[in-house]
Amino acid sequence: MQGSMSKRLGIGIVGAGFNGTFHIKSFLSIRHADVLGVCSRTRDKAEKAAAVARDLGVGEAKAYGSITEMVQAPGIDAVWVCSPNHVRIEVIEEIVQSGKGKLLGIACEKPLARNVAEALKVVELAKGFNTGYLENQVYAPMVERGKDILWRRGARAVGRPYLARAAEEHGGPHEPWFWRGKDGGGGVLNDMMCHSIEAARFLLTDPAKPRSSLTPRTVNADIATLKWSRPEYAKKLKAMMGVDYLKKPSEDFARATVSWEDESGNPLITEVTTSWSFVGPGARLSLEVMGPEYYLQGTSLNNHLNVFFSREVSGKTGEDIVEKQTAEQGLMPVVTDEPGEYGYTGENRHMVDCFLAKRKPTETFEDGLEVTRLLMACYLSAERGERLSWPVKGLDTYVPPVAREEYTARDVFKGKK
Ligand SMILES: NC(=O)c1ccc[n+]([C@@H]2O[C@H](COP(=O)([O-])OP(=O)(O)OC[C@H]3O[C@@H](n4cnc5c(N)ncnc54)[C@H](O)[C@@H]3O)[C@@H](O)[C@H]2O)c1
Repeated sequence: MQGSMSKRLGIGIVGAGFNGTFHIKSFLSIRHADVLGVCSRTRDKAEKAAAVARDLGVGEAKAYGSITEMVQAPGIDAVWVCSPNHVRIEVIEEIVQSGKGKLLGIACEKPLARNVAEALKVVELAKGFNTGYLENQVYAPMVERGKDILWRRGARAVGRPYLARAAEEHGGPHEPWFWRGKDGGGGVLNDMMCHSIEAARFLLTDPAKPRSSLTPRTVNADIATLKWSRPEYAKKLKAMMGVDYLKKPSEDFARATVSWEDESGNPLITEVTTSWSFVGPGARLSLEVMGPEYYLQGTSLNNHLNVFFSREVSGKTGEDIVEKQTAEQGLMPVVTDEPGEYGYTGENRHMVDCFLAKRKPTETFEDGLEVTRLLMACYLSAERGERLSWPVKGLDTYVPPVAREEYTARDVFKGKK
């Protein structure tokens, strides 16, 4: 696809934090795009991220003080939204106001918004634009290649897969806003189950058919705060992030089972679990898919490179071996190409191709809205202690207790008598 294109896509990135910088690194492997702008609430961060882009040679990026200024700058054809969840609406509002008739596309990070009402607003605002929902996991080589092989060989020979399990786990996010239920829109469920629920759904969807070929039937979920509201860890968290998890916790664990019906009436299950309470070498993505005569399993930490440092080796703490790294000694798996392995590279290549060709990406804002609906149904199921039938009533105005700041770590003990 890219080979036939002569035009290049000039990209402006909103948000110069962890995620924006990850995106910039991924552009090393993308041929028909240049990162030309970075804009952030703090100018200094924007300058630093723009310098990363220039140093890597992925574009002559300039730092901008405002979204409008960046969007209207010559050469900017598309915007990647990598700012925190609580500013989604205002950021998208400014992009669409300043980018009408100019932008070829708007790509937005997960979660599309904090809740369904906000996600609907984002979709509404971006009407008339080509949009991309940045769910990197569906473009991860492990997911794409695994899906291709399973469906091409296994499903074709003996029938479709029926169960997908996906998990993403690490020790907790890097910035205070993620830990505040109001700002994140919830805790780990909103932050990370968005990945697992979409990756699992994607693996079970026939590659020749649209997402609508699977219909959700029931949603059943639990959330809990297992680690960060223990007094000794709440104290640590307060010192690190300025939040009080004895008073206003978010969930650091979530699990959900979603049943689906395929177009032939077959029942399928996606089973997902996510946590901010996993302490291992670093962030771990895992998945499993099962069909009548086959299965697939993968984890991002099972790879070909490991390093070992004895107790005599001491040095600075960092994330140079793997994202959310927690140790510098012992035997450690290395993820050699993180933007590639996690799917940022495939995702951005796809978005660039689609925006240049004025084609709809495989993940759009509407897909992000669907994911938000599922996530809110999970929160509602956990709040009520019930399995809910799809379509779930009241989702459009629902705000989870964690985001309302009414959740407590003892809510996990509530159940139906
Ligand atoms: N796909 C993934 O795996 C993944 C990983 C991390 C984060 N994310 C998502 O990316 C987004 C950003 O997360 P992050 O980890 O980079 O957060 P971060 O806090 O590290 O960075 C956020 C950046 O946005 C800037 N910002 C804040 N308000 C802004 C505004 N109104 N206008 C412009 N810039 C503003 C901040 O100054 C900062 O540079 C979140 O939605 C998060 O859920 C996705």
